[in-house]
Amino acid sequence: MENKKIVLAYSGGLDTSIILKWLIEKGNEVIAYVADVGQDDDFKKIEEKAYACGASKVYVCDLKEEFISDYVFRALKASATYEGTYLLGTAIARPLIAKKHVEIAKENGATVLCHGATGKGNDQARFEIGYMAMMPEAEIYSPWKDPVFLSEFRGRTDMINYAEKHGIPISVSLRKPFSIDENLLHTSYEAGVLEDPANKFDPSMFKRGIHPKDAPDQTECVKVTFSNGLPVKVENLDTGESHSGSMELFCYLNELGYKHGIGIVDMVENRLMGMKSRGVYVTPGGTILHNAHNALETITLDKEVQHYKQWMASEVGRIIYNGLWFSPEMEFLMAAIDKSQESVNGEVEICLYKGNAMVTSRSSVNSLYNEGIASMDAHGGYDQTDAKGFIKIFGLRVKGRYIDETMGKGHTP
Ligand SMILES: Nc1ncnc2c1ncn2[C@@H]1O[C@H](COP(=O)(O)OP(=O)(O)O)[C@@H](O)[C@H]1O
Ligand SMILES: [Mg+2]
Repeated sequence: MENKKIVLAYSGGLDTSIILKWLIEKGNEVIAYVADVGQDDDFKKIEEKAYACGASKVYVCDLKEEFISDYVFRALKASATYEGTYLLGTAIARPLIAKKHVEIAKENGATVLCHGATGKGNDQARFEIGYMAMMPEAEIYSPWKDPVFLSEFRGRTDMINYAEKHGIPISVSLRKPFSIDENLLHTSYEAGVLEDPANKFDPSMFKRGIHPKDAPDQTECVKVTFSNGLPVKVENLDTGESHSGSMELFCYLNELGYKHGIGIVDMVENRLMGMKSRGVYVTPGGTILHNAHNALETITLDKEVQHYKQWMASEVGRIIYNGLWFSPEMEFLMAAIDKSQESVNGEVEICLYKGNAMVTSRSSVNSLYNEGIASMDAHGGYDQTDAKGFIKIFGLRVKGRYIDETMGKGHTP
């Protein structure tokens, strides 16, 4: 990689600082781009560091609002999770970081897009597929997959030596025995001491939030109002505090969620590349909204639509996890999901207590819940004797496959 104009996705850490310096040493012009997705960083310092490494320009882009409105809430509408548990905090931010990356490259006439994600993880796919979808003509440079770069940096020692030689400061966070990814949706902890799934995590590692055991002994209840599947208002039923606007209500729910130890998940997941990986995720506001949204769907979606949507939720989760946010299959499924959300209007009350976000009430003008039919004592137009014929036909096939209790296997009588 020589004599090119490159935009580097720069996080301010040791890896990307070395990449930045190394690319400049090879005669490239490098523009550093930092995305602010709500991580707890000192952006002024990162900007200075990038200039000190020799960047020709530095962009620090505030993507927080767009992250919540167009990415987090889109995944929320889909109820997307990966392997049933992970709310995709890192995976959802990557395509947005890639989108702005492409915009900056186009604005500056740069032909190369560079990121510092490793060749083992999911993030390389999330970035690179975003680049391919939005700037197919761009050259992608991924140093951790370049034999020339790898031959110079065989391990941590080579990197530290290089940093010392070139006056790149080595931050304290590098000494942490695990790695952290942080944005408005979540904080994730993985690698290092957490790699062994038998090792318990130490709650004192949490940068934001607390363990449920340290949460208040009192419950706190909130009401979330949804319009077309999107949260539009949050009211604290104990204090009367109220927030609207995507960012504002999301940040408020984060604050409450962190306080009550909500949304902590310790899981082993299957990475895109096939290996298993252990992560601890803290997703406070996202968990509250996920629970509330799902509860509202239980009264506003038709039974079959709801069941199809459950399947779609896991498919959309896989699509996002695997880096295919900008793909035809994502557009295809989201069109159906958007249609389903037309009736997802109403209010949900949630009680926050020591790590739990429990739904206690849901109501909607579009509610399909019919008390007259569901109730045990009212007649409401439902004739129980009709069920006789229904069950007879519904169970027909199992009648033809008699199970002998002593033999324990099915055979035709
Ligand atoms: N906030 C960000 N802004 C720009 N690029 C980022 C940001 N966060 C991550 N990246 C890119 O993604 C790569 C992988 O991120 P990560 O695994 O978090 O590594 P690190 O943050 O230690 O550099 C980084 O090397 C960088 O290229
Ligand atoms: Mg990072």
